[in-house]
Amino acid sequence: TDAFPLDIGEWRGGVPMVFADFAVGNELAATPGATVRLKVDATLTLGKSDNVIAETRGGDPRNVVMVGAHLDSVEAGPGINDNGSGSAAILETALQLAHFPVKNKVRFAFWTSEEIGLLGSDQYVERLSAAERKRIRVYLNFDMVGSPNYAFKLYDGDDSDATGSPAGPPGSAHIEKQLNKFFQSRNLSTVGTDFDGRSDYGPFIAVGIPSGGIFTGAEGIKTPAEAALFGGQAGVAYDVCYHLACDTIANINMTALDVDADAIADSTARYAFNLNGIPQ
Ligand code: PHE
Ligand code: ZN
Ligand code: ZN
Ligand code: ZN
Repeated sequence: TDAFPLDIGEWRGGVPMVFADFAVGNELAATPGATVRLKVDATLTLGKSDNVIAETRGGDPRNVVMVGAHLDSVEAGPGINDNGSGSAAILETALQLAHFPVKNKVRFAFWTSEEIGLLGSDQYVERLSAAERKRIRVYLNFDMVGSPNYAFKLYDGDDSDATGSPAGPPGSAHIEKQLNKFFQSRNLSTVGTDFDGRSDYGPFIAVGIPSGGIFTGAEGIKTPAEAALFGGQAGVAYDVCYHLACDTIANINMTALDVDADAIADSTARYAFNLNGIPQ
């Protein structure tokens, strides 16, 4: 309705999908050049699902700041940390930001089908024309931002954190630094995390769009050094309910979600007004 402060619409139809009792995608993408033959013995159901995209009415459409989170979960559970947390945080950012006369257009994406191989974000990026792609100056991704045994992890876009993943497209380092400044302003630490395409920023960095984001950890194990920085329990997964039925509202660490929601709003608002330092 006109009362809703953002333009909302689907992005050119849905994503054709095959649902099955296996997931193919991330594992294969991690071994470039490999030839993989799959023998599939599963019940296949054809389906269709949509991304939900909303953007500010105002702002220069030649300079688009894009912010995304996946809305789907795995079948095993409700997916509240993965990824109700990121979805809720960007929705609130969108609603608050809509009251400001942004300089750049800010486009929010609620991706479908991340869990079965980044299908929604992949199709979106693939269908952009070269001109549309060029107008997207930054992409910010938020997938799991309230893990119960959290660490404040920033995608290692500057490759300075010895994560072993390659540096992101030019401009990604700026995003990591800008996010880091927010945590510094709260006297909070951050650590780097793999920038390897394991969430919806993957298709964006694959076409050279500067990207970044925050993550509070999934099935990985918190180190003693991280426990010293963030509290919580060393030797235990960041999210013991990752992809399980227990990923309910009780699985959310409210401190982590509160800080991250502020960091998400801060970085989105800064880029909404100023893209200095991001290469054209
Ligand atoms: N994309 C993963 C999932 O949804 C979680 C993840 C996010 C892993 C960010 C690494 C980095 O299950
Ligand atoms: Zn997941
Ligand atoms: Zn996720
Ligand atoms: Zn880094």
